[in-house]
Amino acid sequence: MSTHNVWTHKGTFLLAAVGSAVGLGNLWRFPYLTGENGGGAFILIYALTIFAVGIPILIAETMLGRASRRSPIMGMRFLTRCHNTSRAWESIGWLGAASAFMILSFYSVIAGWAIHYTWQMLTGSLVGADAEMIGEGFDALLAAPGLLTFYHTLFIVASGLIVGMGVHKGIESGLRIIMPALFAILLVVLVYGIANGDFAAAASFLFTFNIADLSLEGWLAAMGQSFFTLSLGMGAIMAYGAYMNSEVSLTRTAIAIAIVDTSVAMVAGLAIFSLVFGAGLSPGQGPGLMFVTLPLAFAEMPFGALVGGVFFILVLGAAISSSISLIEPVAAYLVERFDMTRPQAVALMVVASWALGLLTVASFNIWAEGTLFHALAGRSPFEFIELLTNIFMPLGGLLIALFAGWALTHSEVMKEMRTSETWFMIWRFLVRFVAPAAVSFVFLRTIPQVEG
Ligand code: PFF
Ligand code: NA
Repeated sequence: MSTHNVWTHKGTFLLAAVGSAVGLGNLWRFPYLTGENGGGAFILIYALTIFAVGIPILIAETMLGRASRRSPIMGMRFLTRCHNTSRAWESIGWLGAASAFMILSFYSVIAGWAIHYTWQMLTGSLVGADAEMIGEGFDALLAAPGLLTFYHTLFIVASGLIVGMGVHKGIESGLRIIMPALFAILLVVLVYGIANGDFAAAASFLFTFNIADLSLEGWLAAMGQSFFTLSLGMGAIMAYGAYMNSEVSLTRTAIAIAIVDTSVAMVAGLAIFSLVFGAGLSPGQGPGLMFVTLPLAFAEMPFGALVGGVFFILVLGAAISSSISLIEPVAAYLVERFDMTRPQAVALMVVASWALGLLTVASFNIWAEGTLFHALAGRSPFEFIELLTNIFMPLGGLLIALFAGWALTHSEVMKEMRTSETWFMIWRFLVRFVAPAAVSFVFLRTIPQVEG
């Protein structure tokens, strides 16, 4: 019945899932969205959704992958047949593929910025630069669509090659080094930020929870970010779950992933905002936040060019282990469904995402004002695609929660979860009622507003 091999090591799923989860979402997107949305209130909603909605859905999504042992779209087809339920549930697979395709398109462009800064660090071009010079350098990068396209192409081709050659299953040993090393350098930057920046201002910005500070669109962004950061709602985790050893506890694994992911985001946030407030920069400056503050720290600290170079290489490692998890489910589906070869399937996904990524490239220069896009309510194409992912990921997660909560049988779930009856009851209550209510609440509040 099973078409998949099972990973031999029990810890492999955890490592692969952490590789998918930890990435630009933690280092780039979390700080910039927090800064744009006023700090603590955003973090409160983000953290609440991670723990009350994200972890249960993470369990549900892994469970669907492990129970079906197929790629997400074919897996959902298989599970709906087994349970004689509506084929409408297969839309989970489609919705996920659409989100993966959109996310990869801009993820690759932003990872391209990290390629640029790796180069800048290693050549020592920023040594001794001040905040103004670094800001100007970043603006010059954004103003160069050709250069952005070049980096975008490099990153997406590298990701595609890894998945296309099937070597993504061999990168676990790399992740075992990259993840701890990245965390260690973040701690170094945090210590530097505490010593030279304004840590007190950062802590009060991040941990003063005044819910009234959060705009309606901020609610959607906070919820969307909690799905984005855990790689939820799009089949990435389901695809990895298909290879997971059946003896491992889903609950414990999901909690571990969420804790690691949240810790990386918090350390990155504290480090970046200490530097931001210390240098008198604006917290709400948008997607460039990480790329103007961290290079500033590396420009000033001893051995900064080297530390910064290694840091950005590790960022690229974390980004590529996330981007391959975006390609994998779509490629696996194309192979299973249309009998494509693996390289053909990957090439199709990568070329299509690459082309869509050009809209993100243009969003920072020729189409920055968004005047061409009245229908997008003044948003640049990049902002519009981000908005769509903030809607699609929670929607996919909601459907996953409902399917796992209502369509799967008690014994099936118990067999997969491997926990006590109490945990089962808590989990089922969360996926049946709490997750759907929370997602609907945020959608009903915010979507009518953001359309106009
Ligand atoms: N979780 C990744 C990050 O935080 O960078 C981004 C991501 C990867 C989202 C894979 C979705 C996904 F399927
Ligand atoms: Na993440």
